[in-house]
Amino acid sequence: MATLKVQRPKGTQDVVPSQMYKWNTVEGIVKDTASAYGFREIRIPTFEDTALFVRSVGDTTDVVQKEMYSVTAKGDADFSLRPEGTAGTIRALIENGILNEGFPQKVFYVLSCFRHEKPQAGRLREFHQFGVEMAGTKDPRADAEVISLAKSIIDTAGLRGIKLFINSIGCPECRAKYHAALKEYFAGRADELCDTCRGRLEKNPMRILDCKSPVCSEIAEGAPVILDYLCEDCREHFEKLQQYLTAMDIKFEINPKIVRGLDYYTKTVFEFVTTDIGAQGTVCGGGRYDGLIETLSGKPCPALGFAMGLERLILTMEKQGLDFAAEDTCDIYIASMGDAASVKAMQMCAELRADGVSAECDVVGRGLKAQMKYADKLGAKFSVVLGDSELESQTAELKNMQTGEKVTLPIDERFKAAFNAMLISHMLSAEEIEEPFDELESGDITD
Ligand code: HAM
Repeated sequence: MATLKVQRPKGTQDVVPSQMYKWNTVEGIVKDTASAYGFREIRIPTFEDTALFVRSVGDTTDVVQKEMYSVTAKGDADFSLRPEGTAGTIRALIENGILNEGFPQKVFYVLSCFRHEKPQAGRLREFHQFGVEMAGTKDPRADAEVISLAKSIIDTAGLRGIKLFINSIGCPECRAKYHAALKEYFAGRADELCDTCRGRLEKNPMRILDCKSPVCSEIAEGAPVILDYLCEDCREHFEKLQQYLTAMDIKFEINPKIVRGLDYYTKTVFEFVTTDIGAQGTVCGGGRYDGLIETLSGKPCPALGFAMGLERLILTMEKQGLDFAAEDTCDIYIASMGDAASVKAMQMCAELRADGVSAECDVVGRGLKAQMKYADKLGAKFSVVLGDSELESQTAELKNMQTGEKVTLPIDERFKAAFNAMLISHMLSAEEIEEPFDELESGDITD
C-alpha cells in the first residue's frame, strides 16, 4: 500500500517531550502569579461564532479581514477558530451570569489561538496565550494592577531589558475628533495606501496605523497622535495610571504610536517589548475595553486585560539563557533478569507508583546491560537489579545512579518505606549541592 508522509501545517509547532519542561515552567509561573493576584482560571471553546470576533475584534482589523480561520461544517453556522482569548472569555462571563456575581470579576486563561499570518520567528499560525481579564471597574488603579501582574510574571521568569510602553487611545467621544483628523491626513495620500487601508479610510482610519504593509507604515509615521485629542476624563485616567505605576516602581515609556490591532480598546493600552527575539518582540499586549461587554449584549461594564504570547516568552528566556525548572526524571529503574524477577519488578513498580514515586521497569525484553543503559538515558536517580538470587534472599542492592553508592534493602513490603527515605535524603543532598550557586547568584557579584 502507498504510504503517506504528512508534515505539520506551516506556522505550527510540536512541543516534543524533551522540551515540555520549558512550557511547564512558564505555565507554572503565569498560573501561580495570576492566582496570587486573585484571578481564577477559565476555559472556553476553541471555536466560536464568527460574528463574535467580527463584532468585538472588529471587521476592519487585520485579524478579522485577513487572518481568521473560518469554517462551516455540514450546514452549521459560520464558526472561526479563536484568534485571541478576550472575546470568547467575555462571551463566557456574560453567558454564565458571572458578571452578576459581584465586581470585580478576575479570570485568567492559557489557550491556543489561530491567525493566518506569515510565519516567522515568534510569529506562528497556531500560538498560545496566557491572558487575564478583569471586569467591573473603571478605576485606573485596576489598570495599574493588571500591568503590575504582567510585570511580576516577567520578573519571576527572570527576563531582562523588557520595556513597558503605555498609551491612551481615548473613548468614543475623543476618538470621533481623532478619526476626523486621521481621515484628513490619510486622504491626502489615499492613492498610495494598500487596497485594504483605502477601504479603512472611511470606516476606521485608526486601523491604517497598524497595517503591516511597508508603504502604509511609512505613511502612518507622520499621522496625528491620539494623545493630542484626549477628552478631560481620558486624560485624567491616563495621568492617574502614570502616578500609580510610578508609585509601584514600574518603569514605563509613553508611546503615542501604540494603538493595538484590535478594535475593542478604549483608554489605556500597553505593550511589553523585548529586542532579543527579532521583529516580533511584543511579548505582552493589553488594555482597557470599556464598551465591549455592552456590545456583546451584557449590561454596560468596564473591563480590561492583557495577553502574553507563551512562545515569545519562552523564546526570550532561551535567548537570555534563563533557567527553566528542571525536568522531572525517573526516581527508580527496576531492572530484572528472568521471568519471575520481571514479574516482581512490575509489582514493585506498581506499589511505588501508588505512593507517587516515578518508577520504571523493562517492557521491551532487553538484556540487563541494555536495561541499565536505558536507565542511564532516563536519568533515573536510583536503580535496582532483580534476579534469582535477589528473589531468594528477598534483598537487593539499591544503586544511587549519580554517586554509584550502593545499599542493600529488603525487597518485601518494607522496600517502599526504605526507598522513600533514600529518595528524601537524595533530594536534600541535591539541594545542598545547589546552594553555593544560589548564593553566588544572589550575592554581590554584579555584571
Ligand atoms: P494581541 O496583541 O493580539 O492581543 O496578542 C497578545 C500577544 O499574543 C502578543 O503580544 C504576542 O505576544 C502574542 N501573539 C499574537 N499573535 C501572535 C502570533 N501570530 N504568533 C505568536 N504570538 C502571537 C490580544 O490578543 C488581546 N486579546 C490581549 C488582551 C486581553 N487585551 C485585553 N485583554
